[in-house]
Amino acid sequence: MKLLVTGGAGFIGSNFIRYWLEKYPSDQIITLDSLTYAGHLSSLSDIEKNPNYAFVKGDITDPVIVDELVSQVDTIVHFAAESHVDRSVKDPLVFVKTNIIGTQTLLEAAKKHGNKRFHHISTDEVFGALTLGTDAKFDENTPYDPRSPYSASKAGSDHLVRAYFHTFGLPITITNCSNNFGPYQDTEKFIPRMITNLLQGEKVKIYGDGLYVRDWLYVLDHCSAIDAVLKKGKIGDTYTVGGLTKDYSNLDITMMILKMMGKDESSIEYVTDRPGHDRRYAVNWSKINKELDWSPSADFDFRLQETITWYNSNQSWWKDMKITSENFYKNK
Ligand SMILES: NC(=O)c1ccc[n+]([C@@H]2O[C@H](COP(=O)([O-])OP(=O)(O)OC[C@H]3O[C@@H](n4cnc5c(N)ncnc54)[C@H](O)[C@@H]3O)[C@@H](O)[C@H]2O)c1
Repeated sequence: MKLLVTGGAGFIGSNFIRYWLEKYPSDQIITLDSLTYAGHLSSLSDIEKNPNYAFVKGDITDPVIVDELVSQVDTIVHFAAESHVDRSVKDPLVFVKTNIIGTQTLLEAAKKHGNKRFHHISTDEVFGALTLGTDAKFDENTPYDPRSPYSASKAGSDHLVRAYFHTFGLPITITNCSNNFGPYQDTEKFIPRMITNLLQGEKVKIYGDGLYVRDWLYVLDHCSAIDAVLKKGKIGDTYTVGGLTKDYSNLDITMMILKMMGKDESSIEYVTDRPGHDRRYAVNWSKINKELDWSPSADFDFRLQETITWYNSNQSWWKDMKITSENFYKNK
């Protein structure tokens, strides 16, 4: 296969490229990434000399570059996005540009070049929020109800991807997954921010009461789910993908990290909540499990410990990034 991976210098994209080239070493990958604050070439430094890998710096909203690259591949795996909810509260326009117009630019090129196979990576946040204390979970039939500019722009991109299937017969699939964690995640995000704060001897910050429940998916499990959908998924279908967490709140996860890192509650600082903060997300992944035989590979605690170890052993990867991310929070 020859793949165009958009957003390959980001968290999940870089893990996906590494996963794919290890598993399918004769496949070829081109990645298109504009290297925003969230794109780090250092996340791909071990791959840059691989003859089956090429990096192109460019924007997915640029029809010229997108057209040229799409013409060279048979499959598009679309990760590139503005992905940070907090940033979408501050500056929604760039989310509309990248997540909606960028996706449409890619879809148009895929259509033009003979209906290329298109896989779109999306989020469970398009489904809105669930009530705390219930057993309800999001699945493929949950109605869309996005609450933040980020999730609204991802919802718009999902609708466009499905529209290209129904209107033009573009061979698409979509995965809507829960919160990812693991190596190479930007220190702006919840779990790496906590780990790196503690590694630097600082406190961890918790929004509001901390009783926000998320489903956590280990990033390499997400990559294997995308692999299953690319190889065996039904064209036109959506798959919801989640992990093995059992309704852990942000506070629960903080306590786990503190314990694993030999700290206690005195390292917690509660900060003002953000507007529109969804209470609970949970994902039912039985469709991808039954139809494509996919399931997460290990439990949450094990992967969390591995992630802490990775951040401890790879401080040169995140030290400079940490300054940028803490400046973002200071100026919010
Ligand atoms: N991280 C999560 O927990 C999570 C959960 C569900 C869904 N997703 C989705 O997965 C995808 C990847 O998420 P991530 O966490 O790896 O994001 P990320 O923010 O770490 O990486 C995004 C990448 O896209 C690039 N990019 C941004 N705008 C671009 C543009 N206009 N043109 C070209 N490149 C551009 C950035 O430089 C960066 O390398 C996104 O579509 C996101 O919505 C992420």
